[in-house]
Amino acid sequence: MGAAPRSFCFCVLLCASFIFSALAQDVNQFIYHGFNEDAQLQRDGLASVHSNGLLQLTNTVSPQQEGHAFYRLPIKFNTSSSESLSFSSNFVFAIVPELLSFSGQGMAFVISPSKDLGKAEASPSEYLGLFNASNNGQSTNHILAIELDTVQNLDFDDIDDNHVGIDVNSLISHESAPAAYFSDREGMNKTLELIIGDPIQIWISYDGAEKLLNVTLAPMSIPKPTKPLLSRAINLSHILLETMYVGFSASTGSLKSSHYVLGWSFNRSGPALNLDISSLPRLPHLPRPRAKANDKPQLKLVISVSLIAILVVLITIGAAVYIVRNKRYEEVYEDWEREYGPQRFTYKDLYKATKGFKDKDVIGRGGFGKVYRGVLASNVQIAVKKVSHDSKQGIKEFVAELVSMGRLRHRNLVKLRGYCRRKGEFLLVYDYMPNGSLDKILHTNIKPCLNWYQRFRIIRGVASGLLYLHEDWEQVVLHRDIKPANVLLDADLNGKLGDFGLARLYDHDTIPQTTKLVGTFGYMDPELMRTGKASTSTDVYAFGVFMLEVASGRRPVEQQGSMETVNLVDWVCDYWKKGAILDASDSRLEGTYEEKQMELVLKLGLFCSHPKPEARPNMRQVMQYLDGDATLPDIPPDSTVIAPFSASNDAFSGNSSATMSTIDSILTVGR
Ligand SMILES: *[C@@H]1O[C@H](CO)[C@@H](O)[C@H](O)[C@H]1NC(C)=O
Ligand SMILES: *[C@@H]1O[C@H](CO)[C@@H](O)[C@H](O)[C@H]1NC(C)=O
Ligand SMILES: *[C@@H]1O[C@H](CO)[C@@H](O)[C@H](O)[C@H]1NC(C)=O
Ligand SMILES: *[C@@H]1O[C@H](CO)[C@@H](O)[C@H](O)[C@H]1NC(C)=O
Ligand SMILES: *[C@@H]1O[C@H](CO)[C@@H](O)[C@H](O)[C@H]1NC(C)=O
Ligand SMILES: *[C@@H]1O[C@H](CO)[C@@H](O)[C@H](O)[C@H]1NC(C)=O
Repeated sequence: MGAAPRSFCFCVLLCASFIFSALAQDVNQFIYHGFNEDAQLQRDGLASVHSNGLLQLTNTVSPQQEGHAFYRLPIKFNTSSSESLSFSSNFVFAIVPELLSFSGQGMAFVISPSKDLGKAEASPSEYLGLFNASNNGQSTNHILAIELDTVQNLDFDDIDDNHVGIDVNSLISHESAPAAYFSDREGMNKTLELIIGDPIQIWISYDGAEKLLNVTLAPMSIPKPTKPLLSRAINLSHILLETMYVGFSASTGSLKSSHYVLGWSFNRSGPALNLDISSLPRLPHLPRPRAKANDKPQLKLVISVSLIAILVVLITIGAAVYIVRNKRYEEVYEDWEREYGPQRFTYKDLYKATKGFKDKDVIGRGGFGKVYRGVLASNVQIAVKKVSHDSKQGIKEFVAELVSMGRLRHRNLVKLRGYCRRKGEFLLVYDYMPNGSLDKILHTNIKPCLNWYQRFRIIRGVASGLLYLHEDWEQVVLHRDIKPANVLLDADLNGKLGDFGLARLYDHDTIPQTTKLVGTFGYMDPELMRTGKASTSTDVYAFGVFMLEVASGRRPVEQQGSMETVNLVDWVCDYWKKGAILDASDSRLEGTYEEKQMELVLKLGLFCSHPKPEARPNMRQVMQYLDGDATLPDIPPDSTVIAPFSASNDAFSGNSSATMSTIDSILTVGR
């Protein structure tokens, strides 16, 4: 045979074998006893396959990590009728914690539109490598997961630290139950410890006609129990898409476990084949400490030493179990915090006050976290803000700063009552403001809208709070995020400046050296954007925009048509130039306002939001104008002359080194 016919033959053979394997491989069903090289798996993160075919998703070395393994080929679901959405899967898994009774975090069987959950920035720890803080709970996820969770997370309403749950698009399970199986022989439920380290078999089946999802568990030595652990009616029509991927996800937290999968079968067109237990790969032998006993005379000593060691280990484990049980209320407390004693709340009190941080008690959400309403035992209403962080750096400074903020006392500042600290989490406790934020009242069509008298009082209140921060307290406090959303209204509609999330403290004689631009677009001083240096005049700028917003009822930047935006400062200035500044007032007021006051607020707003910092008044002057103790200089709108506000505007003179705080670095984590 010549060279050409031979290569032709080879080609035919290759094609034939390819076609053959494509036929043999019905992509919608498969069975694996171990995962050798032929297994169609796509892994990421910590996931690896041992030489014996054992799939390991996470290990006990890497904290806060995740691992995924997906069947590489897409599974086609016929979404045109819900009957044809049935599927069935069973697999054998094992969870081996680093230390007995210390496990983290859990694993899940997943059906997802993507097999790249790792690349999609899903988070480890309590997110199990399935979701992250921003997409958890969103119906656009299209993710169905059966979680095997070994840590109780109260944020996700976990029932205990050993449960099985059905998760649809969210880590808050549709349904969950403590891990257990029904023993047909004894006719009773038996608890199953997920982290026992021995292989456990699980059967998952969905009947599209009945819309029933069943999950059944059992130790490997026991055949499939007749009664499922979970049997939940659920309509998967809006969850499953035509093309989905199936696989596993697991994660570690600060505590670590190895999550293994030994074998897996999946079937879209009928019941998944049973796994042959005897052909599954074995789990690695755990290294067990052994006593050396070469010398007979020393044997007794060795034995008694090991007995003592075992006793010590047992006591430690006992104590550890006790600690884990008490984790619900666990806090982080350090010696230096004792000096701030009274401002510190116990987590237990806050947990009780908010009745367990339930979602229905969330009154606000921000880049930093959620705000919950609560009632203290003393019947005082509070708002608790949960801020998560993951850096250890600067915590001391942060708390010290918080505590000094807690000492700020002014009737136009929302009172910070105290704080509490847990691992990775700060809780800030504020007075509760029943009327919510000014932003909401100003920009929703609640009738009647705020009248001019109320608005002017709020403006004056905020000005007085800001003056206190800038000049009247022992240190200069820059708020750095003045806007209606951060002005809260108490029961009598008094405006109180809140959210010191971005605030910074400076000694009165220091020059600020800001490194990071913070604030909200539309309220940000152009000078700050140019130089990056914040000063009291940065706050004055934002306060100017704030005044214009309250008087006109318009947002600082409004969309006009599809492309064009209108800047509020320019918009008011145009009316002034036309000699009709009062026309910039909120039309919802229907002309019911004191004209002098309205003109004052609009003009003062323009002066404060002047592009040149040196042309802006300081807060003391603003206060004098608002109180009528001084009259606004009469400058024509087109004048290039800078208003004769005193040059002492800058509260920072001298140049000793600034007391910088690390508040940003902690608080901006996770934004
Ligand atoms: C999907 O299901 C519908 C209704 O059962 C059926 O008519 C259709 O042929 C199915 N499509 C495919 C691609 O199997
Ligand atoms: C969360 O995950 C989504 C995709 O699933 C991703 O687009 C987004 O960037 C992630 N968010 C964060 C904060 O990582
Ligand atoms: C066993 O557990 C299931 C599910 O949690 C429950 O519905 C059932 O009543 C229990 N059966 C017995 C005999 O306790
Ligand atoms: C689910 O469990 C219920 C109750 O045991 C049973 O009637 C049903 O046939 C099961 N369905 C599937 C798809 O296994
Ligand atoms: C299931 O959901 C789909 C789409 O959301 C809907 O068309 C269908 O009627 C639902 N079926 C049942 C039984 O509720
Ligand atoms: C899938 O179900 C079909 C129909 O019951 C069966 O013939 C096939 O062997 C099953 N395959 C697997 C891998 O479970």
